[in-house]
Amino acid sequence: QPLVGLVGWRGMVGSVLMDRMQAEGDFGLIEPVFFSTSNAGGKAPAQAKNEATLKDAFDIEALKKCDIVITCQGGDYTTEVFPRLRAAGWAGHWIDAASSLRMKDDAIIVLDPVNMPVIRNALARGGKNWIGGNCTVSCMLMGVGALYKAGLVEWMTTMTYQAASGGGAQHMRELLTQFGTLNAEVRTLLDDPKSAILEIDRKVLARQQSMGGDETANFGVPLGGSLIPWIDKDLGNGVSREEWKGGAETNKILGQGEAFGTAAAPVDGFCVRVGAMRCHSQALTFKLKKDVPVADIEAMIAADNPWAKVVPNTREATLQRLTPVAVTGTLDIPVGRIRKLAMGPEYVGAFTIGDQLLWGAAEPLRRMLRVLLD
Ligand code: HSE
Repeated sequence: QPLVGLVGWRGMVGSVLMDRMQAEGDFGLIEPVFFSTSNAGGKAPAQAKNEATLKDAFDIEALKKCDIVITCQGGDYTTEVFPRLRAAGWAGHWIDAASSLRMKDDAIIVLDPVNMPVIRNALARGGKNWIGGNCTVSCMLMGVGALYKAGLVEWMTTMTYQAASGGGAQHMRELLTQFGTLNAEVRTLLDDPKSAILEIDRKVLARQQSMGGDETANFGVPLGGSLIPWIDKDLGNGVSREEWKGGAETNKILGQGEAFGTAAAPVDGFCVRVGAMRCHSQALTFKLKKDVPVADIEAMIAADNPWAKVVPNTREATLQRLTPVAVTGTLDIPVGRIRKLAMGPEYVGAFTIGDQLLWGAAEPLRRMLRVLLD
């Protein structure tokens, strides 16, 4: 069985990956070697077989023994270790959740239900670097990739509603703590049905505006009861790094754009952090190359992959099936609110949601492992 090194398996994405690998029986097909950046020599988790102790994740010689390395340890680790490992002559497969290597020419962004031909082509050419995509991009393409595959999309905007988990585990805790703080601030007024709502509102705002220090250490400003229309770095041209990824990664996943000698399909919009826990939602606007009936669009999306689910564009179905609460913890990618927009018959709107820890992070990695094991 191939020796598969696992790095960063204890963090949030790594834990979701471990659960999914366990659920799908992946550990039965590999000889896992568990690495740690902080606890080398410690006891490996229950999935370990012959190698019961944790290896040092910075030990190049130990990593070199692996046929495949899967890391959810983060970008700093990748930046430090990956070049050294390759420089040491390691020719194994590197599967990575971090964004550091994503846009490199010799790296493929893996999302096999969408880009299996791109992956197979790279494999045939000796590709070794397999990187998970940005969560919003992966979830979006799992939902509406069918329209791209059919060559129907002239351009698309995506306006996102991204969950706290995209920032990390600490961000989720911070959001919940803020909700609690705000609730506590007006608790007695809430308990009194005759209290004035504008007084409650004033008190909440005053508390939000006085939040600081530890209370906003991760997001910088309150997210509870508010939103933040900027995610990731400021690229200095008015575009956030998260927004830039939308266009760059979508095209790279689809194997189109300058690097492939073809035209890129423009993708742009605004990325917004909201007070959801771990599902990223997005409102999409498509300019299609031609007028396609909504029923055809729905049929294409529904038939594209087993996870994309068309939600009828009704109030009832939307409330029941098209919310982060309905989707969290599932691999479903519901696509709803599909309708023609007032701008003309080629303009189509849709709304889609995905668990950013599953299709947005862990699932494409374990599926790439399966592709390599095939
Ligand atoms: N950058 C994403 C976010 C998470 O902050 O929501 C990972 O792709």
